[in-house]
Amino acid sequence: MAALRSTSRLVASSKPLFRPAVFARTYATVDPVAQVSTPANAANTKVIPESKTSNVQEPKPSENPKFKTFQIYRWNPDKPEEKPKMQSYQLDLNKTGPMVLDALIRIKNELDPTLTFRRSCREGICGSCAMNIDGVNTLACLCRISTEHAKELRIYPLPHTYVVKDLVPDLTHFYKQYKSIKPYLQRDTKSADGLENRQSPEDRQKLDGLYECILCACCSTSCPSYWWNSEEYLGPAILLQSYRWLIDSRDERTAERKQALDNSMSVYRCHTILNCSRTCPKGLNPGRAIAEIKKMLASH
Ligand code: SF4
Ligand code: SF4
Ligand code: FES
Repeated sequence: MAALRSTSRLVASSKPLFRPAVFARTYATVDPVAQVSTPANAANTKVIPESKTSNVQEPKPSENPKFKTFQIYRWNPDKPEEKPKMQSYQLDLNKTGPMVLDALIRIKNELDPTLTFRRSCREGICGSCAMNIDGVNTLACLCRISTEHAKELRIYPLPHTYVVKDLVPDLTHFYKQYKSIKPYLQRDTKSADGLENRQSPEDRQKLDGLYECILCACCSTSCPSYWWNSEEYLGPAILLQSYRWLIDSRDERTAERKQALDNSMSVYRCHTILNCSRTCPKGLNPGRAIAEIKKMLASH
């Protein structure tokens, strides 16, 4: 689980592109059609070969079936010699729940137990089912299946991530970056009554729109600056979390937190493209949080 992304170095370096530990891992991409229609994925260029596409059919259709085809990215780390491929599954929507996660669970349970993806809560709370659906990074459990019969639905792992298997991205680096911002309350002063560290309703309100982040990584993996600079640029999700602690009235390490961000890479690789805010499945605005951090850094 140690593979980290450094796309800019992959492009610039004449050294071997991958260390051995990274070899048995593939890089998630989105198809060129989705690319054109979705700014979130505009910098993805690798085309996934579809020559090995196979079709798995609905096992027991209903009387008046409503068929829908799901094209799903497949890659098996146990067969590293085989390239990633798109595999097609046909489901009867009459027998499938309304969300994309319902379809994935049906495919896994009834058509193909080898299909691998993450999920837990199925209600937009855990963030584990984040993936790229029809060109948009979102949560499979909150994404309705389009009922247009003719249109296939295409599902990929989050773009510009190493893939552990099928739809499972390797978020090791993302979580390391999260840890690096010390995402917890830091204070030395005890509260007057020795109990809770209270704050005024006004100060508490400042955390609205920030504390709801579920760290799904949809925003960071839609950000072109993060695609190319993720070794040093923290990306929108981690910066939104940074801002959440910077403006918490109870925290006493604001100066240190600002100092850690005040360099040319951690924050300033954000060029206000706003893919992040457009894609967030929780309706949050990481682009605004980053702008607020820049204001804070400029004012000290
Ligand atoms: S800001 Fe939104 S998209 Fe980004 S990690 Fe948090 S919930 Fe996910
Ligand atoms: S606003 Fe900044 S963080 Fe958001 S997508 Fe653009 S460059 Fe990335
Ligand atoms: S399964 Fe938890 S957010 Fe989708």
